[in-house]
Amino acid sequence: MLIREYRLSDTNIIMKLFYDTVHEINICDYTQEQVNAWAPECMDDEVWQKRLQAKLPYIVENNDEIVGFGELEPDGHIDCFYCHSKYQRKGIGSKLLSHIENTAKFRGIKRLYTEASITAKPFFQNKGFSIVREQQVELRGVWFQNYVMEKYL
Ligand SMILES: CC(C)(COP(=O)(O)OP(=O)(O)OC[C@H]1O[C@@H](n2cnc3c(N)ncnc32)[C@H](O)[C@@H]1OP(=O)(O)O)[C@@H](O)C(=O)NCCC(=O)NCCS
Repeated sequence: MLIREYRLSDTNIIMKLFYDTVHEINICDYTQEQVNAWAPECMDDEVWQKRLQAKLPYIVENNDEIVGFGELEPDGHIDCFYCHSKYQRKGIGSKLLSHIENTAKFRGIKRLYTEASITAKPFFQNKGFSIVREQQVELRGVWFQNYVMEKYL
């Protein structure tokens, strides 16, 4: 497994990974209506391309296959953080988070924080994040429960 920077040519693979993970993994904790709003059937390539170019996610690759991606923003915010639906609980998230933590330390970031899904909460707890608050957020007219979580480095 290796971690590398995002390339433009990764865009469609990342979009598919995101869609599949939300529909196959997050569906265990959210309703069909919620996952449809979270990862809609029709996602705009151009919007995603612009988003990824701005966020510059870290890509986890295994045998030339993209198996995860995660974003670290300058203020310590971990935005998207998704592992491939077919390779859950195989240490990919751990590897990605460890890379993000090391990068954050290198950049002098003192606190990491994220809005963890119900699905991701046990993962982040296992990595030393604590719950700041539970919240309800609206996306495309649908409400979701998630958790603001943080970790001091
Ligand atoms: C959250 C996520 C990124 C974790 O990635 P992963 O590669 O499966 O995580 P790891 O294999 O590195 O897990 C490390 C440890 O975290 C804990 N953990 C991970 N997933 C867990 C789960 N579903 N339930 C309980 N503990 C869990 C375990 O302690 C695990 O160690 P173990 O497997 O040896 O017991 C992945 O489940 C995912 O893609 N989820 C759906 C997308 C999502 O909700 N992302 C967050 C967006 S807000």
